[in-house]
Amino acid sequence: MNLQATFCLIFFTFTILFFFFSLSLFIIHLNACCNCDVCSAYITRSWTSQFINLSDWYTHLLRNSPTGTIHVHVLNNIITANPNNVEYMIKTNFDNYPKGKAFSALLGDLLGRGIFNVDGKCWYFQRKLASFELGSLSIRSHAFNIVVEEIESRLVPFFTMFSDNKDVVLDLQDVFRRFSLDSICKFSFGLDPGSLKPSLPVSELESAFDLSSTLCVERGMSPSPLIWKIKRFFNVGSEKKLKSSIKIVKKIANEVIKNRRKSGSGPGSKNDLLSRFMGTISDDTYLRDIVISFLLAGRDTVASALTTFFYLLSQNPKVSEKIRTELDRVIGSTLEKAPSFEDLKDLHYLHAALHESMRLYPPVQFDSKFVKHDDVLPDGSFVKRGSRVTYHTYAMGRMERIWGSDSLEFRPERWIRNGEFKSESVFKYPVYQGGVRMCLGKEMSLVEMKCVALCLIRRFDVRVMDVDRLRFAPGLTATVHGGVRAVVRRRDL
Ligand code: HEM
Repeated sequence: MNLQATFCLIFFTFTILFFFFSLSLFIIHLNACCNCDVCSAYITRSWTSQFINLSDWYTHLLRNSPTGTIHVHVLNNIITANPNNVEYMIKTNFDNYPKGKAFSALLGDLLGRGIFNVDGKCWYFQRKLASFELGSLSIRSHAFNIVVEEIESRLVPFFTMFSDNKDVVLDLQDVFRRFSLDSICKFSFGLDPGSLKPSLPVSELESAFDLSSTLCVERGMSPSPLIWKIKRFFNVGSEKKLKSSIKIVKKIANEVIKNRRKSGSGPGSKNDLLSRFMGTISDDTYLRDIVISFLLAGRDTVASALTTFFYLLSQNPKVSEKIRTELDRVIGSTLEKAPSFEDLKDLHYLHAALHESMRLYPPVQFDSKFVKHDDVLPDGSFVKRGSRVTYHTYAMGRMERIWGSDSLEFRPERWIRNGEFKSESVFKYPVYQGGVRMCLGKEMSLVEMKCVALCLIRRFDVRVMDVDRLRFAPGLTATVHGGVRAVVRRRDL
């Protein structure tokens, strides 16, 4: 045997031994032998006989837990729906509950050092910068103009086209995903993928971005991180696809940045986020990572919220009527007058209806952190260093002990006091997270959703055809498996 063959043999033997050694450590670490009821049901998937979504099963378990917390030992995961625990994790003892390396590794190839994927100083720097930029009045009105233009030039004509053709069923989720992709790309990069043009083109960016985020999430579903890491090392299977789709996303982002630098339109000359960040950051790779994080954070979340909102309205026509009455009162009944930014502030019932919809269907159904040092949560649960702690927003929205005996009803009135919207504690309602790392796009997303809702609700009746319970596909954001079919009719005004 020559030297090269010997070396290969040693290398492969070592790799295989290392793989099995790591796998055993991982299994021991996971406590995979646990045969408690919850772990057995998880491993055998027997929960699927009663529940269509894993989140529904967790909700059931959390409702029955006296502390509102459960422990899935095989996943080394503590899951809580207890507001005191949530406050402790995301505010009081924030530093002990970072996103952690395990999470960052999953999305690292796509997001790099972008805000969504980092902790510590790197996160803090971007947080400060982004909070400052997003807080400015000029960027808010820029976001508002983008959204209104996208609605008037694409979304409304698209719905009109469908409402004229009585036999056609559209996929609401797909339409809202296209709408939010166009809006967030224009806002972050000044780039228009045009995905809601009448021919519904599939842009290169959209397909590459979708595939990258799906495959990153699938990494998290493999029994051990070692599996995807080995696949990545040898560049095979899903990791090969992931690598090439990430390459496309980064190539497009790099081109936009390069052209922006070349055109000499430096900071201040354009209003999108990229131009604003260019003023402070000279490293183009870092700049690219930051902007890609915004695409991920702001695209599917808004699409998911709009989809479930129209699903709930379709089942609750009285709520749609109340929204229309409010719109007539605040904006007037003519469609000629476009809503102003100021008008939106007075739409208390619409604001409440959107909050209520996200209570039942939060776009981010749960959020996990990794414990830095051993700790005890306020409800007495011990959390060991390295374990995963998840607060379950979806379950929290359905807890009687938080929202009362009508917790499963869609009732926007619960958010109204003396005719005005009254917010709830973010620790009871962590739809936008809350505390130190609260969503930076909260205001912007609410403006966007209100604009869409008011433009569509006044003009159209949207009837969702899949009235059964929604089945969600696995992912970072709640996406309905197979889409949401609907028919659209123009209203007689
Ligand atoms: C209905 C819409 C939205 C919902 C429900 C939502 C929810 C959330 C949640 C739960 C987080 C925390 C995620 C985590 O740390 O794991 C988050 C973070 C974030 N969101 Fe949103 N989001 C929405 C829209 C947006 C939009 C439109 C933007 C962009 C303008 C945006 C930008 C961000 C950013 C940058 C972060 C990271 C903040 C940080 O880590 O400090 N979000 N969002």
